[in-house]
Amino acid sequence: MDYPKKLVETVAKKMKGHHLEGFLSGQGPKNAALMLIGEAPGETEIKTKIPFSGRSGEKLNGWLAQAALTREDIYITSAVRSRPFSIKEQLNKKTGLLETKYPNRTPTKAEVVAYAPLLDYEINKIQPKILVPMGNTGLQRLLGSKFTISAYHGQLLHLPILKYSKSKNQLIKSANIYTIFPTYHPAAVFYNQKLDPLIQKDWTFLASLIKQCD
Ligand code: URA
Repeated sequence: MDYPKKLVETVAKKMKGHHLEGFLSGQGPKNAALMLIGEAPGETEIKTKIPFSGRSGEKLNGWLAQAALTREDIYITSAVRSRPFSIKEQLNKKTGLLETKYPNRTPTKAEVVAYAPLLDYEINKIQPKILVPMGNTGLQRLLGSKFTISAYHGQLLHLPILKYSKSKNQLIKSANIYTIFPTYHPAAVFYNQKLDPLIQKDWTFLASLIKQCD
């Protein structure tokens, strides 16, 4: 996706001083029926410049393949377009020396709001039939903090979504109604293997919905 230069510059200005690395554009066909909305790129994605190209991506590819979907069917983006990282001093047990690490972290609410105009732009441009937030960050970016993935995954919702209002400098409900299908972020299975078949079921259902859209 080519975002308007002004939008990207405004985000960069607002995020000055935040611990964020790089920039990864959303990717996929302009006429994609599905738009996947993750959380933020991780270390791998910032290096490869491909969304979901790390460990979570492998998991996602497996579910897509089982549902007979490919990345050509979907546009992939996330709530935040840079890698949020924290700074941690850690003892290297082998060398006995302190090392500084920069692990991925969940974006803050302020970061999600700052990047919101970019996601709004993508949704407007692509006009996907179904928005698929993966995980709580993507879901709450669209629907607010009362919505959780554990309560709403696998449900087809028809609701207004949150969009950035420049005059209010916050997210406000859209006038239009969107179709939203929340599912878990692939990384969720790394913490809870039992979710795997539930998530696969979500993807199989999504695949059947897209066939109806064709
Ligand atoms: N998580 C995301 O939300 N996006 C990626 O590209 C990778 C991990």
